[in-house]
Amino acid sequence: MLLDTFGRTATDLRVSLTDRCNLRCTYCMPEEGLAWLAKPELLTDEEVVRLVRVAVTRLGVTEVRFTGGEPLLRPGLVGIVERCAALAPRPRLSLTTNGIGLERTAAALRSAGLDRVNVSLDTTDPETFHRITRRRRHADVLRGLAAAKAAGLDPVKVNAVLLPGLNDTEAPALLAWAVERGYELRFIEQMPLDPQHGWQREGMITAGDILASLRTRFSLTPEEDGERGSAPAERWVVDGGPHRVGVIASVTRPFCRACDRTRLTADGQVRTCLFAREESDLRGALRAGADDEELAARWRAATLGKKAGSGLDDPGFVQPRRPMSAIGG
Ligand SMILES: C[S@@+](CC[C@H](N)C(=O)[O-])C[C@H]1O[C@@H](n2cnc3c(N)ncnc32)[C@H](O)[C@@H]1O
Repeated sequence: MLLDTFGRTATDLRVSLTDRCNLRCTYCMPEEGLAWLAKPELLTDEEVVRLVRVAVTRLGVTEVRFTGGEPLLRPGLVGIVERCAALAPRPRLSLTTNGIGLERTAAALRSAGLDRVNVSLDTTDPETFHRITRRRRHADVLRGLAAAKAAGLDPVKVNAVLLPGLNDTEAPALLAWAVERGYELRFIEQMPLDPQHGWQREGMITAGDILASLRTRFSLTPEEDGERGSAPAERWVVDGGPHRVGVIASVTRPFCRACDRTRLTADGQVRTCLFAREESDLRGALRAGADDEELAARWRAATLGKKAGSGLDDPGFVQPRRPMSAIGG
């Protein structure tokens, strides 16, 4: 088990497959990109599967989510999914993606064993999309979403970040659009993980703002069982159901006390939190010949260093060295 000193157990693994991306979302990556990891620094497909196997078979991980950077840019993605789906016990497998290229790969990913997908999309308007992502790929994302649904990935969730002055008035339009297509929309509060270190709490669109905006057009009732558990999204029933909308209030209502996550970066470093300032190197140990038990022991030891919370509210909060795209969102 991956038990920390606050009694939490990590069962949900986020694996970044690349730090590269084909979008340049202003809140995630600089316009010119970043200094990408060199190929030898990246875990190979074999190494990714080995570490997932250690997590699943020795450490109690039950959920594996592939992310990045943009995971669809990883040539070996379908094979990685297939090999992870063959593990016993079989983990639940999901993908967080910008959806570009999903049109071509959704069916293969589904056949390989992918269970569900989260596609990030902040707007229904192609021009606003261009302003946020600095790329003209809105139509590709829409086609990717439709293909995911057609391939039977279930649920298809859409992740949206609202930014002041860019898309902050779009919450109701996004929800109407998602409801019509059967996608489950989740808003995520913008976190201080931008490369410019320009995030300011005063300017951010909060969960409260988002809910108030949605309520101008929809009736929202908190989900019956109130079962947030370790799930970061609080969910509301839309207009009496069956549709739901989620809000992930990572900044204003953090879920650290119930956190069940552990992370592996594309270069094989364990991170216990998005905001962690320390990483533990599994790639070095793996390449030096460590066996599975030693890798598991290192992962357990790293988990003991997991902090109580993200530290966002501490007066001395310092943003992590790597931005979101390089950590793996
Ligand atoms: C870093 S991306 C990686 C996976 C993939 N490229 C995608 O677009 O989903 C994962 C998620 O992180 C979100 N994200 C990136 N930077 C963020 C920030 N500063 N605050 C909140 N969410 C952020 C993105 O909107 C996206 O939904």
